[in-house]
Amino acid sequence: MLTIKDIHVTVEEKEVLKGVKMEFELWKNYCLLGKNGSGKSSLALTVMGHPSYEVTDGDILLDGQSLKEMEPNERAQQGIFLAFQSIPEIKGVKLFEFLRTIYSAKVGEQITFLAFKKVIEPLIEELHIDRDFLWRDLNVGFSGWERRKIEILQLRLLEPKYIFLDEVDSGLDVDAFRSVATLMKELNNQNNTFIVITHYFSILDYIPVDHVYVLENGKITQEGDVSVAMSIKEKWFEG
Ligand SMILES: Nc1ncnc2c1ncn2[C@@H]1O[C@H](COP(=O)(O)OP(=O)(O)OP(=O)(O)O)[C@@H](O)[C@H]1O
Ligand SMILES: [Mg+2]
Repeated sequence: MLTIKDIHVTVEEKEVLKGVKMEFELWKNYCLLGKNGSGKSSLALTVMGHPSYEVTDGDILLDGQSLKEMEPNERAQQGIFLAFQSIPEIKGVKLFEFLRTIYSAKVGEQITFLAFKKVIEPLIEELHIDRDFLWRDLNVGFSGWERRKIEILQLRLLEPKYIFLDEVDSGLDVDAFRSVATLMKELNNQNNTFIVITHYFSILDYIPVDHVYVLENGKITQEGDVSVAMSIKEKWFEG
């Protein structure tokens, strides 16, 4: 269970989360809704341990253990994953080496070049990712769809437990959206939890959610079952 205990978060001297309580149970899926600037990405980045987001009060617990003092890579090792709203480029780091590093961290030993090739090649084939991408700098010059596929590749490799999807449905054409949503659906199982952040709702046809949280100006103003999402959808799109 991942528990957000009354957190207050400050970034660049601005309080962006003002006492947020949430619970994410493994095996269930969640949806996080809210208008632009309500604090959704800040929440996901805070859970991930982004250094700009300072928890000034409250705590984040994973199975009762505080994550507050853990570095982002330790949190990743604990099974937390964020599919970014804007996926960063990292110049000078080849995709292959990046993946080999995160996979080695997961399994707890340095995986050799050849051993990792055997792990990664079937996966990139399965996901129809161009092999040449492995030797390019991470995400540099990759299209939106290609970056998403690289994230899906990471999900396949790491098999994290708590997966934040921060607007993974934005900026994709209809076919790419369907492919991403279908791949996410295939990844969703009894041993993980998706926390879906969206403005479009169609992704909820693929990932069934058990509980919905609505953020407004850094606070939860509404929560409940999927009917909450449906009423918000009506309000936003028809109201
Ligand atoms: N690194 C940062 N530096 C300065 N301000 C920030 C930073 N990150 C977030 N904020 C501010 O915090 C507030 C919440 O931003 P956040 O990105 O969490 O919203 P959001 O709900 O994800 O919005 P959107 O739906 O547009 O993605 C905004 O006012 C934003 O400007
Ligand atoms: Mg956001």
